[in-house]
Amino acid sequence: AVMYVCLCHAITDTQIRQAVSQGDTSLKEVRQRLGVGDQCGKCSRMAMQIIQQQLELEPNYYEVA
Ligand code: FES
Repeated sequence: AVMYVCLCHAITDTQIRQAVSQGDTSLKEVRQRLGVGDQCGKCSRMAMQIIQQQLELEPNYYEVA
């Protein structure tokens, strides 16, 4: 099932996870890449949780931590 995190930009959790896989490590970076949270901002909290969750799954996270 597709889960929309950011309705203003129709951004899915999958897109946010992919952004992290491509090297983004913070909400700020994902916002710059996708625009998530730059309209109403209601999605910021959920977006941050998904980013955090994905960072823990990414092997690179441990190298830079
Ligand atoms: Fe993401 Fe509005 S739902 S900016």
